[in-house]
Amino acid sequence: MEADHRKGKCVPDIMEGMDFLQKISRPELFDFEGISMVHYFTDNWVDLQNFQARPDDIVVSTFPKAGTTWVSYILDLLYFGNTAPERQTSLPIYFRVPFLESAFPGLPSGVEQVNKLPTTPRLIKTHLPVQLLPESFWEQNCRVVYVARNAKDNAVSYFHFDRMNKAQPEPGDWNTFLQTFMDGKNVFGPWYDHVSGYWEKKQTYSNIHYMFFEDMVEDIGREVDRLCSFLGLSTPIEEKERVTKYVHFDAMKQNNMTNYSSLPVMDFKISPFMRKGKVGDWKNHFTVAQNEQFDEHYKQKMKNTTLQFRTEI
Ligand code: A3P
Repeated sequence: MEADHRKGKCVPDIMEGMDFLQKISRPELFDFEGISMVHYFTDNWVDLQNFQARPDDIVVSTFPKAGTTWVSYILDLLYFGNTAPERQTSLPIYFRVPFLESAFPGLPSGVEQVNKLPTTPRLIKTHLPVQLLPESFWEQNCRVVYVARNAKDNAVSYFHFDRMNKAQPEPGDWNTFLQTFMDGKNVFGPWYDHVSGYWEKKQTYSNIHYMFFEDMVEDIGREVDRLCSFLGLSTPIEEKERVTKYVHFDAMKQNNMTNYSSLPVMDFKISPFMRKGKVGDWKNHFTVAQNEQFDEHYKQKMKNTTLQFRTEI
């Protein structure tokens, strides 16, 4: 597919709006159509539901902390890595791949950002569960790349994210957070319905590529190959190798365009955005009792799905 890579004119305006983020306060969680939400993701709801997708839009959908940024960056490099060098050095990944439902004060909404994207295809990030994704994505038969991560590591990563991100509700201590996670009371929760919702959708909608964080950690080259097949890209092997080098954890952690260091709501002294990037870090957090209780609860929650995860590799 041809990539149109003109630089987005809206970028400097967006950067000015970043000052507003400094003043942001931790939001309250509330129930929104059965999903745990905060107003930063529902304030633009009418525009969001009326969003007009284009057939070549690519949606990156995840439960938060499952590898959104990793896959967003891979897609961005595959489409625009060679053709738009200034994009790679001056535009943070969260503007290249706008967060569709975001509605932060002082910043253009995610919908506005997507509508101003000068690129083809448009890469669009969302954490919306499958049933809340704007209808036009399905009507236009858009490609959806979904990334899922095992619940235990996902919970650990989310806990540290909530500690350091002022735009998220207070997580409390680890034990409190784990209980909230099991109860589905995290932003975009429950995790269980999110991952299985897209899994079920895949049975009837063939344009979903369902990826696992654990597979990516195990063999990123293989996962980039599979992604290219899904997208119909015939990216040369040397180019794919270059992409896998750029998206290595250490490279992304050092890269100010992918490590979120420019976002003033995050306090890296508490925990960095690029934290560990491992499978199995849950073992450093779960007590034996928490693990047993979690496994029991998990079995119940996931009893009706064929979806399987690996908690170690
Ligand atoms: P940890 O907190 O476990 O380190 P998201 O982008 O959805 O918010 O996900 C963030 C999680 O993905 C973090 O997990 C982050 O470290 C991890 N991650 C991001 N890029 C990665 C990479 N290139 N390799 C491995 N993990 C990565």
